[in-house]
Amino acid sequence: MNKSLTTISIAIIIIVIGVAIVIIFTNDAKKFVDQGVPKDLQTNKIKNPLGKTLVVYYSATGTTKKIVLEIAKDLKADTFEIKTETNYTSEDLDWTNKNSKVSKEYNDKTLRNNKLIKDTPDNWDSYETVFIGYPIWWDIAAWPAETFVKKNNFLNKNVIPFCTAITSSIGESSQMLSEQANGGNWENGQCFYPTSDSAEVKVWLDSLE
Ligand SMILES: Cc1cc2nc3c(=O)[nH]c(=O)nc-3n(C[C@H](O)[C@H](O)[C@H](O)COP(=O)(O)O)c2cc1C
Repeated sequence: MNKSLTTISIAIIIIVIGVAIVIIFTNDAKKFVDQGVPKDLQTNKIKNPLGKTLVVYYSATGTTKKIVLEIAKDLKADTFEIKTETNYTSEDLDWTNKNSKVSKEYNDKTLRNNKLIKDTPDNWDSYETVFIGYPIWWDIAAWPAETFVKKNNFLNKNVIPFCTAITSSIGESSQMLSEQANGGNWENGQCFYPTSDSAEVKVWLDSLE
């Protein structure tokens, strides 16, 4: 009786040790699969993780365009300017005047008629990353930028918004644009100011890559 109890105990111990060994090996194998290729072997992956890049922008008075040119130069990216059929004159843009075109459009969305000269950039489907730049108008994106996002398909694209303003932040402007767009992996984006220079743009771009 004692002998058979000892045999059973030994058998149980062997089974428990066996199960423990199997669990340890299985976990190790899983870790290996999860980690994939070790970091130090991941050289020569993708030279530019942003892929083929386009900088789309609307700029009524040239401030946003200056930032665009810095981005395009740094990333060797293509650019596309959103142009409305009717240009805003400086009188139209006077936000301090309640009767200016833009003030009226601000108060009544139905007055906004920003037909674009061209809705879709050439080779649109070939771009993996699209920067979209615009001035802030009353804390939101200037409306021609909204027209552009509604007209185009952003599925499978990285979308990196940026704005220029005097004091406002990018706030909810980029999120509002993303809600109007068809798809896209939208970043929160960045706002630039009259004091922003090429070094500031470079720091931001480096943080994205
Ligand atoms: C109609 C209108 C509304 C504006 N509203 C704001 C605003 O709410 N906050 C802000 O900081 N700047 C505001 N600005 C200033 C512009 O955002 C800023 O000057 C911008 O850099 C202009 O870009 P652009 O030269 O590319 O058109 C407004 C300008 C205009 C014309």
